[in-house]
Amino acid sequence: MPEYSFLSNEKSSFEPTQVQGDPWKVLVVDDEPDIHTITELALSDFEYQNRGIELLHANSAAEAKEILQQEDDIGLILLDVVMESRDAGLLLVIWIREELKNNQVRIVLRTGQPGDAPERQVVRDYDINGYKEKSELTANKLYTVTCSSLRSYQDIHSLMAHEAGMKKVIESTGDIFGKRSLGLFVEGVLEQIFSLSKLERSMNLVIEDNSIAIQRNHGDYEVVAATGCYRGISDIDVRAEFGTTVEKLLATDERIVNLPNNKLAIILRCPFSDATVLLLNNMTYSSDEKNQYSLLNLFISNVNIAYENLSLQAQTERTQKEIAYRLGEAIENRSNESGNHVKRVAMTSELLALGCGLSAAKAQIIKIASPLHDIGKIACPDAILHKEGKLDADEWETMKQHALIGEEMLSGSDLEIIKTAANLAGGHHERWEGGGYPRNLSGEDIPLEARITAVADVFDALVSKRCYKDAWTIEDALELIKSEKGKQFDPKVVDSLLENLDDILEIYKNYK
Ligand code: C2E
Ligand code: SIN
Ligand code: SIN
Ligand code: FE
Ligand code: FE
Repeated sequence: MPEYSFLSNEKSSFEPTQVQGDPWKVLVVDDEPDIHTITELALSDFEYQNRGIELLHANSAAEAKEILQQEDDIGLILLDVVMESRDAGLLLVIWIREELKNNQVRIVLRTGQPGDAPERQVVRDYDINGYKEKSELTANKLYTVTCSSLRSYQDIHSLMAHEAGMKKVIESTGDIFGKRSLGLFVEGVLEQIFSLSKLERSMNLVIEDNSIAIQRNHGDYEVVAATGCYRGISDIDVRAEFGTTVEKLLATDERIVNLPNNKLAIILRCPFSDATVLLLNNMTYSSDEKNQYSLLNLFISNVNIAYENLSLQAQTERTQKEIAYRLGEAIENRSNESGNHVKRVAMTSELLALGCGLSAAKAQIIKIASPLHDIGKIACPDAILHKEGKLDADEWETMKQHALIGEEMLSGSDLEIIKTAANLAGGHHERWEGGGYPRNLSGEDIPLEARITAVADVFDALVSKRCYKDAWTIEDALELIKSEKGKQFDPKVVDSLLENLDDILEIYKNYK
């Protein structure tokens, strides 16, 4: 993976801090204070892979147990044998491997009494890295044994972390496939990268929880998720702070790019909608060839598949919605009503549906379907549709057919939105107490979505000017709706209208 030096860091008020490896943790267990001091001196300037050392001290096996239970990332134990008892050290080894089940920590036994050699069996069976006489442990030798032990700890740790990481990738991919909105999805991705980075620390991934995800949307930038110092950043700041970087990144073919100042960019691409760029602070990624199969790479490949699915799904939903709106508007325009009628009835229907206790998903479907409720008016002649006065009996019979004609036009689909629209078309002129058309249904025999849209539709017809009537005031329209509660309208839907009145009036203010 190349490093793009041309991606100059834009002057940013969000300066990342310096990357630093955590020190290796080494536990010294010895009942002789001198040994602790000598070890400390010998390892004071120790450094391996840009990481220093942090010594932990225990004066007995019992103390060591306590420390080991708290710290699960100790890389090496320099362990005395004879302490509380002649075999306290050996018993501690057995406890670490069998009780604590810590198979990662490396253990070097140090004995001052060669005659008391630990049983060979312990060394063989409990994965001990070294058995040294204390006199043998000069500063140099201590340095060497520490270095080689930590290297082998790192290998074991990486393997185990990798295994845990693979499980995590699989789990988190499943988790992420379940997310329905882009914001939630990207938030999930950032979270998962953050936890993967902890597992992959040895692979030079260091991360702070400071990240931002930016989607390019027809030349604009939209923040889809932000954590840490980026929380609350506005779209204007985003253009100034990251506009150039995002554009340059999108011009590459890469998925993961190291940026200067320890920033990492991850680019999610999709053939049929805009890309999303994730920028993570204080995270670098080793450009090693072998990292092609690293956790982050595997994870991002999976994530990109999920991203494509999500984009396609979002695109499909937007398409359905837009087609329903455009069709609905075409119908309304033909009946000389303004296009806003469609949007008002749609949004009001959604609020009423939520107020009736329907799920957000079902309310959304009703919202999208509602513009189609009068699609049957397509078959109604202009002379009737645009007649300025009252309709005569024949004209009224023709007009009333719009309900059944609309239902037939939409019937037979297995798409949820179209099925709902068919119910709306067929049911929106039925009356709760009966006496409506086309079927003279009553009560719960009328589909709930039709009872909901009936209220939204009549409220809107009343406050609008029609060729055959003037616009009513909102107060008068509300009076009529209330007086028809339990007669023309389902009482529950009328209650929902009254409970959500503020939000509904807001819609009417915005879409006059
Ligand atoms: P629309 O104009 O969108 O009206 C929808 C529904 O709102 C009506 O369904 C009715 O329930 C209610 N509504 C509208 N205006 C009034 C009103 O002044 N008073 C009351 N109480 N309710 C009102 P409806 O009656 O089944 O009519 C369906 C469609 O038939 C109307 O849709 C409109 O396109 C047409 N229509 C109804 N009456 C007339 C009319 O006198 N002349 C013409 N040219 N068309 C009419
Ligand atoms: C000691 O107790 O410090 C020496 C004994 C041993 O390391 O085995
Ligand atoms: C409309 O929605 O504007 C027409 C009213 C109806 O027939 O339901
Ligand atoms: Fe209608
Ligand atoms: Fe209508």
